[in-house]
Amino acid sequence: MPAASRVRIYSGTARNLRYLARRLRAGDVVGVPTETVYGLAANALDSKACAKIFRAKRRPRHDPLIVHLHTAAQLPDVCEPNDAAKALAAKFWPGPLTLILPKSDRIPDIVTAGGGSVAVRVPAHPLFRRLLRLAQVPLAAPSANPFGYVSPTTAEHVKASLGDRIRHILDGGPCGIGLESTIVDLRTPAKPRVLRPGAISREAIAAVLGRPVRTHPQRGATSRNAAHKPVVAPGLLARHYSPRTRVVLHRRLGAAEHRAEAYLFINGATAPQGPNAFSLDPKGHLPGVARRLFATLRAIDAQGFRKIHVELATGVGLAEAINDRLRRAAAR
Ligand code: TXA
Ligand code: MG
Repeated sequence: MPAASRVRIYSGTARNLRYLARRLRAGDVVGVPTETVYGLAANALDSKACAKIFRAKRRPRHDPLIVHLHTAAQLPDVCEPNDAAKALAAKFWPGPLTLILPKSDRIPDIVTAGGGSVAVRVPAHPLFRRLLRLAQVPLAAPSANPFGYVSPTTAEHVKASLGDRIRHILDGGPCGIGLESTIVDLRTPAKPRVLRPGAISREAIAAVLGRPVRTHPQRGATSRNAAHKPVVAPGLLARHYSPRTRVVLHRRLGAAEHRAEAYLFINGATAPQGPNAFSLDPKGHLPGVARRLFATLRAIDAQGFRKIHVELATGVGLAEAINDRLRRAAAR
């Protein structure tokens, strides 16, 4: 039997925000809304507090955390920013972009998994920004899901999967973007690399930096052309962001033929109707697809289908980020 849930969901009143900021300063973990996905936050300067994040998520200690700041002016407190970082911060922060930079001594080893670099971002969600300002410390926060499961995009998702392991969740409504931030490795500024695609595209980053940006090669497929080629060997990919139900990817989906299996279409306008047919956006617009992807996968996952057939997005930019998450969900 799971432990009785003691968790409470807080609305974003000034009083609640002050209370949660005090809890964070006292070393508690708090589920927080961001514009990408919900995070599980703790004081990034307090290793004991950060250890609670790893315990609650059952996350291996070798997987480092992202440090969230209230403003880019705090960068020198946590890392050694370079000109490339300053340019990207000026253009995209607050927003869904995470930068990997050499860490400062103030950041405890548990945050970086013992490594010399730290992941940092200034998030855009207004409630999380107010909480960061009130807490007056940088907040380490991974996505607030049990390790390996689909990321949460509502406070209820956080409660459903971590509710018996944490006490506090701040409700900021459904996340506007719905996919985790773009991660750019800037340790060697002359060779920037996207480690995880997100809503801020490689092309947009390259335009600011004035140089080409590579994508970290993923085992089994490259993220750029995956929508145009058959999906090969998804078993080679790291399993992550995965529903419990097996996910099978398709370039195009036709009829929802097997009743015991779910079919998830990109475009609602052209999707078939039926109890086992689902779609992500009424017009197939990619921001809507991204925003609803994880919530829809969770909802289908709860319905006991034998498999989930999913259609890949087409195009570059956000399509690459959507397909990256779909390939990880399908990896076994
Ligand atoms: O949108 C987001 O980024 C959300 C919200 C909560 O901010 N956070 C998030 O965190 O997705 P998480 O921990 O689920 O994913 C962060 C990824 C992990 O794959 C981790 O390995 C990588 O970032 N990472 C963190 N620090 C790193 C570092 N110093 N070097 C390389 N990768 C790092
Ligand atoms: Mg995560």
